[in-house]
Amino acid sequence: MALTRCVLVSLIIFLTLSPTSSSQSIIQMIPKEETHLSSDGVSGRRRGIDLYCESWKFTVETNDAGFWSRIPDKCVDFVKEYITGKRYSSESEAVADSALAYAKSVGLSGNGKDAWVFDIDETLLSNVPYYALHGFGSEIFDESSFDEWVDLAEAPALTASLRLYKGLQELGFTIILLTGRAEFQRNCTGINLQYAGYSNWERLILRGDSDHGKTASVYKSEKRKELEDEGYVIHGNSGDQWSDLTGFAVATRSFKLPNPMYFIA
Ligand SMILES: *[C@@H]1O[C@H](CO)[C@@H](O)[C@H](O)[C@H]1NC(C)=O
Ligand SMILES: [Mg+2]
Repeated sequence: MALTRCVLVSLIIFLTLSPTSSSQSIIQMIPKEETHLSSDGVSGRRRGIDLYCESWKFTVETNDAGFWSRIPDKCVDFVKEYITGKRYSSESEAVADSALAYAKSVGLSGNGKDAWVFDIDETLLSNVPYYALHGFGSEIFDESSFDEWVDLAEAPALTASLRLYKGLQELGFTIILLTGRAEFQRNCTGINLQYAGYSNWERLILRGDSDHGKTASVYKSEKRKELEDEGYVIHGNSGDQWSDLTGFAVATRSFKLPNPMYFIA
């Protein structure tokens, strides 16, 4: 049933989004402000915007920015270049390297309770193909269109996280997946994870009926606490949001992946 739904919705979305939705304008906007090019061909105005957006991104990644709902309009190109260029993958690889170095230093009990918790969206799976069609975080989040994308079950893996995931399994960690996705998305999420190359997780925890209305931070803390009460030792936790990592029952070490596209409290 659910599998059929995944496929059916895929087809509809594919037909809707694929061939003709290009809104690219032939007419290029001419910048009104200063356009003097320096020797490397970058305008002073562009440099100023990049500096602004780089600093804005810093406040987001450090959680200094607190709640925010959309990226600044003038940072759309900056975020696009960051996410689709080499820096996002390079920084994700650096995070995976740090996580693996730590993981190798952990003395495992070997009783199957040595846990590593992973978030899913923008941690194991990349929704960049979706956000590329939605302004890289400059549009207000539309839950129903995102749910249609989730139903496609075609999100690719974050390459760095797939490497970390496999490395942790080789070391003997038990993998727990803890996502803000809802229970009705269990099947599509499992199919998508397998499609992206993930396998043999111990448990996939999604938001149940009683979890709706809770912040991610509270919901995820409660679930980590339940894991601890079952005897799991959460050595590591990987997520792209601070709300994946903070609260209570926090892991011994937490690893924050970059995400300048959206914020979840
Ligand atoms: C999804 O649902 C189908 C049909 O119920 C089932 O055969 C399949 O194992 C499920 N896949 C996952 C990954 O849960
Ligand atoms: Mg996430």
